[in-house]
Amino acid sequence: LAETPASTLLAGQKVIVTSGPTHEPLDPVRYLANRSSGKQGHAIAAAAAAAGADVVLVSGPVAIADPPGVTTRHVETARDMLAAVTEALPADLFIGAAAVADWRPLIDADEKIKKNGGAPPSLTLVENPDILATIAKTGPHRPKLVIGFAAETQALLDHARSKLERKQCDMIVANHVGRGSDVMGGDFNQVTLLSHSGEESWPPLRKEDVARRLIATCANLLAEQAE
Ligand code: CTP
Ligand code: CA
Repeated sequence: LAETPASTLLAGQKVIVTSGPTHEPLDPVRYLANRSSGKQGHAIAAAAAAAGADVVLVSGPVAIADPPGVTTRHVETARDMLAAVTEALPADLFIGAAAVADWRPLIDADEKIKKNGGAPPSLTLVENPDILATIAKTGPHRPKLVIGFAAETQALLDHARSKLERKQCDMIVANHVGRGSDVMGGDFNQVTLLSHSGEESWPPLRKEDVARRLIATCANLLAEQAE
């Protein structure tokens, strides 16, 4: 592989990447969301395209541009994201970098919820579908490599390893997102890759460099699988 030019590492491979947050509506003007910027997921989609892959990026609402050379599908909610990913299958590689909202409001009111002079409204939440776990368990259409992220504020590697098992994916990219870590929204990321064969920590890198290294790692794993 050493002599394979970077621009053909993933030639002929189909890649689906999720990126950004999801927005879960409460009424026509309000939603639940999180601090994800989409920078890491978008950089991964761009790196996969630069490596010659056919890339579909399924993005939640973000303030950054669609990456060049990538087919970008814009979605709002976790359920929309799952539908767009399912529609984009089959693929050789799935990378779930989105910060999917774990819960959505049970009721998405048709009209703006008004103050009525009484107690504040209470918010009942229901769990969203797990896109990564769903894709990892799709049977015959399962991508050859299914890779997730783990955003943790504590016990990073323990939690990441349990996600690897629970979601039946091939690799988890673990990153620390606690207050002050500046990962969500920032330009740098420090990740540890966990797979069934061990773990590997990378130094703090620009998100574009994490993306390039991750794509090179995936290309190696796909090449090994093909042997
Ligand atoms: N993920 C997903 N669908 C969800 C929730 C998470 O596809 N409904 C994916 C994320 O894109 C990420 C991985 O699962 O690749 C782990 O997300 P994370 O939020 O770290 O883990 P959760 O399983 O949601 O657990 P928790 O938030 O409780 O730590
Ligand atoms: Ca979560």
